[in-house]
Amino acid sequence: MPSRNGSVENRRPAVYPGSFDPVTNGHLDIIVRAARCFPRLIVAVVDNPSKRPMFTLDRRVELLRDVCADLANVEVDQFSGLLVDYVRRAGAQVIVKGLRIVSDFEHEYSMAVLNRKLRGGPDTIFVPASIEYAYVSSSSVKEVFSLGGDISDFVPPVVLRAMRAASRSVKPKAKERKLS
Ligand code: PNS
Repeated sequence: MPSRNGSVENRRPAVYPGSFDPVTNGHLDIIVRAARCFPRLIVAVVDNPSKRPMFTLDRRVELLRDVCADLANVEVDQFSGLLVDYVRRAGAQVIVKGLRIVSDFEHEYSMAVLNRKLRGGPDTIFVPASIEYAYVSSSSVKEVFSLGGDISDFVPPVVLRAMRAASRSVKPKAKERKLS
């Protein structure tokens, strides 16, 4: 049981899980607002190699740590396997999810019910996305970026730099393929 006067480390955290490939300003908005509601917030990056992410798990964690550096009660961690198992290991009772548009709700609601059913799992609290980020997702940001669009309003500057560096490092390979 957390004590009323316990240190921040002793208080039960909430877990905000996701792929964060990469973290967007929409994610950051949810993190900042959820961190105001809970004494501790763990942003948990899933290791899901089947999704073929743009950034490695370690890099996604690193970018999140960078953008959350000023948020004293936010930690960044990684997990593989079932979310409910991670949540239990972390000593948390609550999962935080961001909700953007109505279609998010159908998917997120079914995940919330399933997670709650699994091994007497945790409850899910939904945080509505701020209107300016209602249409921002990691996949849309990657698509716009890959087609040369301006994504500087949608991702933190450090993420934009990382995406530029990542695209510079893959381009030579594409050229090699063309020549062969
Ligand atoms: O950012 P994403 O890709 O929408 O995040 C999805 C995530 C990580 C929340 C979801 O894939 C997940 O919970 N993965 C862990 C495996 C798991 O527990 N699956 C059952 C969920 S109902």
